[in-house]
Amino acid sequence: MARHLITSAIPYINGIKHLGNLVGSQLPADLYARYLRQRGHEVLFLCATDEHGTPAELAAAKEGKAVAAYCAEMHTVQAQIAEGFGLSFDHFGRSSSPQNHALTQAFAGRLHEMGLIREVSEEMVYSQTDGRFLPDRYIEGTCPNCGFDSARGDQCDNCTKQLDPTDLINPRSTISGATDLEVRTTKHLYLRQSALKDDLAKWIDSKTDWPILTTSIAKKWLNDGDGLQDRGITRDLDWGIPVKNGADDWPGMEGKVFYVWFDAPIEYIACAQEWVDAGKGTDWERWWRTDKGADDVTYTQFMGKDNVPFHTLSFPATIKGTQEPWKLVDYIKSFNYLNYDGGQFSTSRGRGVFMDQALEILPADYWRWWLLSHAPESADAEFTWENFQTDVNKDLADVLGNFVSRITKFCRSKFGEAVPEGGEMGPAETQLMSDLNTRLAAYAGYMDAIEVRKAAAELRAIWVLGNEYLQANAPWTVFKTDPETAAMQVRVGLNLVHLYAKLSAPFIPDAAKTMRDAMQTDDTSWPTDAQGALQTLPAGHSFVVPENLFRKLTDDERTEWSELFAGTRA
Ligand code: 2FM
Ligand code: ZN
Repeated sequence: MARHLITSAIPYINGIKHLGNLVGSQLPADLYARYLRQRGHEVLFLCATDEHGTPAELAAAKEGKAVAAYCAEMHTVQAQIAEGFGLSFDHFGRSSSPQNHALTQAFAGRLHEMGLIREVSEEMVYSQTDGRFLPDRYIEGTCPNCGFDSARGDQCDNCTKQLDPTDLINPRSTISGATDLEVRTTKHLYLRQSALKDDLAKWIDSKTDWPILTTSIAKKWLNDGDGLQDRGITRDLDWGIPVKNGADDWPGMEGKVFYVWFDAPIEYIACAQEWVDAGKGTDWERWWRTDKGADDVTYTQFMGKDNVPFHTLSFPATIKGTQEPWKLVDYIKSFNYLNYDGGQFSTSRGRGVFMDQALEILPADYWRWWLLSHAPESADAEFTWENFQTDVNKDLADVLGNFVSRITKFCRSKFGEAVPEGGEMGPAETQLMSDLNTRLAAYAGYMDAIEVRKAAAELRAIWVLGNEYLQANAPWTVFKTDPETAAMQVRVGLNLVHLYAKLSAPFIPDAAKTMRDAMQTDDTSWPTDAQGALQTLPAGHSFVVPENLFRKLTDDERTEWSELFAGTRA
């Protein structure tokens, strides 16, 4: 039994995530956590909401709410949706927690003590009407290069030229439209990441087993120099973690907060404290401090590719810079993007399916299966309604659902609702077990390696083996001349249902539970050999015929949904 710490990138608080976000972090993290628990490992699976920054402030203002109240509400909404998808977090925390406040301030203090913080005076745009400094992307104006009248302070979307806000002609605030902007000098803290460059480069080089997607992004940033430039870790905002030097005030930093990307990953640690403080655990340091037992923890992070630089460079710089015994990540599983029906998912344009909407039209397992079996691992992937309909109908309804329904109903009609005894197994069963053993080993191998698509393909192949066995051996025909053999075949089939319940649980936990309940067992132990697995339900063990596991999606539904989700979410 090993110990596994698993975190998923923590979703921003402002708004509900779309299915592309889900498949890039939380869902595969859940798959892995469920699998490792079933294998008997000790797992701590953490996620949280990422609550600071300007977008949260603006979203709250738009709804006419105080930002703290807005975040509290949205946290509850996100927690409920996560539960609806069966995301089995041990704790779903909040980056605005008191624990994260204290820990983030302690990290900054320690980094200062280690000589890794410097103070920088900067010129920033201040809006008198808004009463605040404006981040670059909240300033718009005319591009000095091409004349486009809605260029942003950081870039012109028309000609792609990188800009400084002061380059813009006739700049205005996108928050209020105000034009009474002025440049003011303000002081900020910078983390001297450049001092850690060699250490980080060596560390990344040692990660030869990481996905190429992860290391290639890390190396690009390291070598371009950009990612490892010293980084501002404070902002002139109201909402956030007040800048402090540990528990002490930081002279000159009054009224400023830490940058959201500084405190967000620290929440991974604070979340473990929240988990303890919520009474769900007893010792968070055992997971996070290598001097307190975390040296034998394997720590795996899940995230979309846009988050990779922060997790391969910035957060490790924060950790390494302290020279304290914090646990560093062991493996970073990153994902490409999932596109939506010929374009991109878009939160701002409401294009695609969002997590709350998905659960309104179908139960979680349909989505979990499709998303995970199409996880954008080696390249971007695409959601289309045709493909969703075809694959769900084939894999879940025709293959798995049909198998379970056929075997349980046939048994009930010929032998009653208990596993029949029957005769000895023969060559067909020997062959089945040998095929199953090959697939079981491959499936577990892919799950261990977090090869999500390949694991899904093996699981599907294991379902197919059951169908082929029934089809080839036709107990309904055999029954007419040799009921003893038919009974044995049915016994094998019912044990396959139990095997499927166990193996499918990480992907489709609700259907797995339905199968388990129908087989009247709560045994979820991971099967390693087919011989043993096909004997877990002995003759005489009673069962019930379950409700249909999955229904088929109709052409009408497909048409309706593709129109409904074309891009108008309020
Ligand atoms: O991309 C996002 O949704 C970010 N909120 C992820 C933050 S992950 C972390 F570092 F906490
Ligand atoms: Zn331009």
